[in-house]
Amino acid sequence: MPAFISGFGNEFATEAVAGALPVGQNSPQRPPLGLYAEQLSGTPFTVPRHESRRTWMYRIRPSAAHRPYRRIDNGLCGGPLSEPNPNRLRWDPLPRPEAPTDFLAGLTTMLANADTAAGTGVTVHIYSANADMERVFWNADGEMLVVPQQGSLAIATELGLLDVSPGEIAVIPRALRFRVALPDGTARGYICENHGPALRLPELGPIGANGLANPRDFLTPVAWFEDKDQPTELVQKFMGSLWATTLDHSPLDVVAWHGNLAPYKYDLARFMVVNTVSFDHPDPSIFTVLTSPSDSPGVANVDFAIFPPRWMVAEHSFRPPWFHRNVMNECMGLVRGVYDAKATGFLPGGLSLHGLFAAHGPDAPTVERASAENLAPVKLGDTLAFMFETRQVLRPTAHALSIPQLQADYDSVWNGLPKLFTGNAE
Ligand SMILES: [Fe+2]
Repeated sequence: MPAFISGFGNEFATEAVAGALPVGQNSPQRPPLGLYAEQLSGTPFTVPRHESRRTWMYRIRPSAAHRPYRRIDNGLCGGPLSEPNPNRLRWDPLPRPEAPTDFLAGLTTMLANADTAAGTGVTVHIYSANADMERVFWNADGEMLVVPQQGSLAIATELGLLDVSPGEIAVIPRALRFRVALPDGTARGYICENHGPALRLPELGPIGANGLANPRDFLTPVAWFEDKDQPTELVQKFMGSLWATTLDHSPLDVVAWHGNLAPYKYDLARFMVVNTVSFDHPDPSIFTVLTSPSDSPGVANVDFAIFPPRWMVAEHSFRPPWFHRNVMNECMGLVRGVYDAKATGFLPGGLSLHGLFAAHGPDAPTVERASAENLAPVKLGDTLAFMFETRQVLRPTAHALSIPQLQADYDSVWNGLPKLFTGNAE
């Protein structure tokens, strides 16, 4: 079992071999054990101290030792975007691959809201894979928030080993090398590729010092490395395109490291849910696990919010999410169970998009049920939906609009809402 260090954004220090980590300085004339020192800077050097993310690695070979990268086929990762589409869109789960497909080849880009060069916005992918990666990948374009929906992932990174299963998430910093194996043979899930500022915990305001996602439940791996002198393909995603080079060794050769730019995992079952104990319910921002801010306070580049198991206790209230039109853009997925605003059609592994001011909310059967239900306390037990909520309009890829999983009749879920008005016009 991988070992972890607890905490969020701390200055971690870990070594896989005793004595590998220099003491008292970052770059000794001769680092211990014949290692090379290398800094990975995830933020510009002079950002405010609380924003700064960087890690010092002590590795068998420096990353600089590589031949030129050559362009390789992108598969379904990236691709042209369609024109902005004001419609509500929903997809069934994507089909499983038939040929051997690793995590990287299994990426299908569904939505994006910015050029990857913009330093802002997100790209939403779905992965569906059935083979272990032999190659190693890194993403120059964005931090990757991975939300498994089916099958575990064994992620070997430069900084350590992450095992992550449905119900958990993993976050892999921009530029960190990693390789994904599939302990269950197949895996499917969602990725929010964040081109903006690194994800962080939201402010708690009047909630106080505890609650929502607590820092100690975030787990960062301890140092781990492999010392393999064998040809290894190293692929990077750079401005949306995939490029590859071949090393004569494994790049996962960091023996010790210290810093606060590191991968982590989090068990969503540890999220302390806050909600009403009287009537109505708060805006879904109350379910924010992580947020990437923008330059405008309170306006997220992207929020990652979840709708986990919880008690519903509101009195004389319509308990499911209400009808709404939102200036923010909502991309939703479902890990398991049923989402309480939709009776049917939103499947585990599926995806929906409700963009800028697109009117949405409970479907007709849910309105009928929730308007008449007995409002005793009830537990929503087996459910886990989530949302990537982002300030900029998400555009589907041309591919996402062309596939049969796009539900042609999604609008019909709001058919059959009866006219109930009992008043009279003056
Ligand atoms: Fe919504």
